[in-house]
Amino acid sequence: MRCQVAIIGGGPSGLLLSQLLHRAGIDTVVLERQSRDYVLSRIRAGVLEWGTVEMLREAGVGARMDAEGFPHDGTYLACRNEGFRIDFKDLVGKQVMVYGQTEVTRDLYEARDQMDGKVIHGVEGVVIHGADTDAPHVTYTLDGTEHRLDCDWVAGCDGFHGVSRQTIPDTVLKEFKRVYPFGWLGILSETKPVSEELIYAQHSRGFALCSMRNAHLSRYYVQVPLTDKVEQWSDDAFWDELKRRIPAEAAESIETGPSIEKSIAPLRSFVAEPMKWGRLFLVGDAAHIVPPTGAKGLNLAVSDVHYLYHALVQAYQGDDHGVTHYSEQALARVWKSERFSWSMTGLLHRFPDRGDFEARMQEAELDYLQHSRVAQMSLAENYVGLPY
Ligand code: FAD
Ligand code: DHB
Repeated sequence: MRCQVAIIGGGPSGLLLSQLLHRAGIDTVVLERQSRDYVLSRIRAGVLEWGTVEMLREAGVGARMDAEGFPHDGTYLACRNEGFRIDFKDLVGKQVMVYGQTEVTRDLYEARDQMDGKVIHGVEGVVIHGADTDAPHVTYTLDGTEHRLDCDWVAGCDGFHGVSRQTIPDTVLKEFKRVYPFGWLGILSETKPVSEELIYAQHSRGFALCSMRNAHLSRYYVQVPLTDKVEQWSDDAFWDELKRRIPAEAAESIETGPSIEKSIAPLRSFVAEPMKWGRLFLVGDAAHIVPPTGAKGLNLAVSDVHYLYHALVQAYQGDDHGVTHYSEQALARVWKSERFSWSMTGLLHRFPDRGDFEARMQEAELDYLQHSRVAQMSLAENYVGLPY
């Protein structure tokens, strides 16, 4: 088989890249290890930057998001059970969209089906060959049979644990990382969200977040030690802990109910440089991970896709500038989102290895944020998404 761009990974970045390239007349094959149902069962991000919203529209997959998503003009931050609002619309004239990653992925799969896009599920043993030559190819096994896919370029959209990043020699790749000494325990419940906007809560017992998917589906998180296991957390224990950490008014009015999903995610900051090696590009989680506090993971994957999509279209028009400089261009934005996610994580979590002084620093910073329009503008500018 032959295609112009071989895409490894059928998560949001692989599917979006394939959809955009297909519409521009560039043919792709997406190789995904898991089944479609499995990919769609993963509950992940919930907040889209406006740049992401516009990219999804540009890809022709914005209709359901525009009909069913919820534009949010602001968010609440809370410190010691008292909340205050950051008004994005007023501060920087922009909004975000609450629309789950699961829905984005579903819309992308449907659009790929409609255009007869080639997405192959259940592939095993993907190997990228000759990425540093002019004629790369990918081999994989499907139902026990070995296949070969020749291509001009390879897009590594295969997430943190994929093969693409590992294809780049150690002598070329430099990794920057930080692991946080806690995780997020998240639940999804068929209950009315406690607030119309998200609440990010700092508390001496640990961080908590109140989010949502729609008017009847809520997503809540609490910071937990890395040693905690999901089985240790009954629904009642979760609700009790959440209520202790959020503003008193929210705790009194929150609707509780059984969880329909419960999981613990570790927090990590990670960047791999460069994001290009020969004819192989790294995109999204394959190249970088952010702790979820700034809601940046999915949005950063989409901004990588933006740069790579335009670079490849230009390359097929005879201009190699974009593909040559993809890594620098993407990394400039990646590092700013890393900084924001790291700083929001530091601001809002309880760090077991930090003392009273740092706790006061957090409180002072939140107090500053509450009362300084300048500080709020900076947070808002980053939260709604820096320009591409
Ligand atoms: P992925 O979504 O990881 O997709 C990669 C795809 O590649 C997967 O489908 C995988 O099966 C496939 N793949 C992997 N290896 C291979 C291989 N060898 N061959 C073929 N296919 C392969 N972000 C937020 O903003 N907010 C959140 O609340 C949030 N929660 C998260 C919770 C978890 C548990 C995780 C893991 C991530 C979370 N994120 C969150 C981050 C966000 O979901 C990711 O940034 C986003 O999914 C990145 O998209 P991607 O397409 O680059 O990678
Ligand atoms: C959600 C997750 C986040 O990490 C975040 O910052 C905001 C919302 C969510 O799952 O809804």
